[in-house]
Amino acid sequence: MAIFFKDGCFKLDTKNTTYSIKIADYGYVMHGYYGKTISDIDVGYVYPAVKRSYVASVKEDWDMMFRINDAPQEYSAFGGADFRTTALRIKQADGSRAADLRYFSHEIIDGAVEVEGLPHATENGCENIKTLKIILKDAATDVFVNMYYTVFEETDVIARFNEIINKGEESIFVEKAASLQLDMQCSDYDFITLAGAWAKERHIKRRPLSVGTQGHSVHCGTTSHQFSTFFALCDKNADENVGDAFGFHLVYSGNHKTEIEVEQFGNARILTGINDEGFSWEIKQNDKFTTPEAFMTFSGEGLGQMSRNLHEFIIRHIFRPKWHNVRRPLLINNWEATYFDFNYEKLVSLAETAGKLGIELLVMDDGWFGKREDDRTSLGDWVVNTEKLPGGLERLAKGVNEKGVKFGIWMEPEMISEDSDLYRAHPDWAIAVPGREKTIGRNQYVLDIVRDEVKQYVIDAVSCVLAGANIEYLKWDMNRYLTEVYSLSLSKDNQGEYFHRYVLSLYQILDAIITKFPDLLIEHCSGGGGRFDTGMLYYSPQIWTSDDTDAHERIEIQRGTSLGFPITCMGSHVSAVPNHQTGRVTPLDTRENVAYSGTFGYELDITALTDDERAAIAEQCAFYKENYNLINNGDYYRLLHIPGEFSSWCFASKDKKEILLFCVQLQSGANDGNKFVKIPAADKNLRYEEAETNQTYFGDTLNNIGICIPYEFGERTSFSRHFKAEK
Ligand code: DGJ
Repeated sequence: MAIFFKDGCFKLDTKNTTYSIKIADYGYVMHGYYGKTISDIDVGYVYPAVKRSYVASVKEDWDMMFRINDAPQEYSAFGGADFRTTALRIKQADGSRAADLRYFSHEIIDGAVEVEGLPHATENGCENIKTLKIILKDAATDVFVNMYYTVFEETDVIARFNEIINKGEESIFVEKAASLQLDMQCSDYDFITLAGAWAKERHIKRRPLSVGTQGHSVHCGTTSHQFSTFFALCDKNADENVGDAFGFHLVYSGNHKTEIEVEQFGNARILTGINDEGFSWEIKQNDKFTTPEAFMTFSGEGLGQMSRNLHEFIIRHIFRPKWHNVRRPLLINNWEATYFDFNYEKLVSLAETAGKLGIELLVMDDGWFGKREDDRTSLGDWVVNTEKLPGGLERLAKGVNEKGVKFGIWMEPEMISEDSDLYRAHPDWAIAVPGREKTIGRNQYVLDIVRDEVKQYVIDAVSCVLAGANIEYLKWDMNRYLTEVYSLSLSKDNQGEYFHRYVLSLYQILDAIITKFPDLLIEHCSGGGGRFDTGMLYYSPQIWTSDDTDAHERIEIQRGTSLGFPITCMGSHVSAVPNHQTGRVTPLDTRENVAYSGTFGYELDITALTDDERAAIAEQCAFYKENYNLINNGDYYRLLHIPGEFSSWCFASKDKKEILLFCVQLQSGANDGNKFVKIPAADKNLRYEEAETNQTYFGDTLNNIGICIPYEFGERTSFSRHFKAEK
């Protein structure tokens, strides 16, 4: 059993962790502990009574016994005696902003719970999943908060979300509602975020927590290139294999905010959820607001195990079962091969060469519709350009399929160009504040999908394209942020709902599309990796990681992304040299060794390569297919990494009998020493043979000495090694 209740205390157990909650004096629901498994159910002694003066309190005796201002709580509210950053802020019917949340009731539910209208973790056939629902009530009004904790025992994950319910007669407005609060009685941790910019997404940034509030917030309407919805905390000495590490994900694709407040006594409050900046949501009588889901894991064995818990959880409980054990196609995308300059003949010749090399899917990127010869026109006009593609999509898909290759297409359904028939017919469909100039981004505006008729147009337009030909893959792009948000469909008091409503509409659209086209593989994309989150992964298991296809730079991007996301969701392609983003020239085998660690594919003109290069690509495709299961379903380990100089990582089968190692020497100095790459993935009781050299090692030798990387002259050289346990 995963959830225990005794004498007002809850203990939520996963395979290796415990999460403790206590209904304490006055009905406050307190947080006790989160970490390695413990046996006690009641850990209420962790918040002892300490006399402190100058503290506001509800009752006289509280000053002496119990102060809500430094007590670890499960869900804190603004407006009372807790002066820290709080999880919930409500504008009550009387205009006040006070709430005082106390225990009302609880229930233990079998399985996971649906988060209405939002992506969420599901059981997906796994047993032993239980949900604890605790209901809190505001002491003075009929506002209730349902807190949900779903315990995924096998994967060491607890998922959480909250519902705010108004049973009062008049409307209230939620101004802030975090998805997850975790009050820790300690702040001696490092805070890890994945931060960056366009073409530099999700680089690991690690810094110690310090007094005050730290974190990040995003209000561009989408997840952003700058900050991720994933973050972590870990011991200061934690590394890949050692130390306590906590990983957190918000399952959301819009404005988000993560705050960690280290308060006066050194406690840390962690909050993550929808960004409250500009946010306000009306809840009418008997209605509710549902927060997005967040989930967290704990590892006592460093960041590596934290990542592996999250990888396994995302694959098993965020991805739809349809994608669990299905091999996704090895693809070629024509974007960097042709940009807008392509036609039927070019695409079919790419498909023909691709088919011969073992590539399984051709993706036609931007430029196939309307009058689109560059990025200034036609978004919204999802009608094929028959000058480029006579016979339309049907003929093209047929031509590609005849070469033994599947056909996929690019769309940017949420957008509208000023120079488009759609804009000429419906200029008011672009998001805008009446009377205010609209900011233009990449020459385009965003459609107001909050409006039902616009949402329906998008669903119909995408469906019509997909139904018109044999299209098995859709790259769903989104190339600008939201500005001047406002909807003609919302009253002036409800415009604060805009950003969240946009995301809800997007999810409804995606849901409608995958319901109509259940076999369609969608690769999400947003100017590269600008909407890379577990919300999008709920709809389809693949996201284009970054517009930076340079292998050297991809190492940091993919390594950073791997901290929170499984390898099998990261779009990763071999592109041309000199690289289009950096001008760097990297050997083909190194481009390949880096791109293997993701949903492998190509993004260059394979018809213009030499025969030798094409032969190498055919071998690469065969290699990837042979090792698909190990890479996509195996356990991933980040290994020796010296930024800018050397990087290594490996995949291990679940039984540890097979290990695939990749090493890249980015830079070499004169007369350097040897390096040793330790492989903690190896089982100490097994003896392995290295396929490439026939050298054998015991697992504990690989764990503790590792393999020797002799000094080699040359930059951006790389190799892979395959270790197999002896029978
Ligand atoms: C941005 C994407 O990230 C690219 O891969 C490409 O699809 C372009 N958009 C097309 O406009």
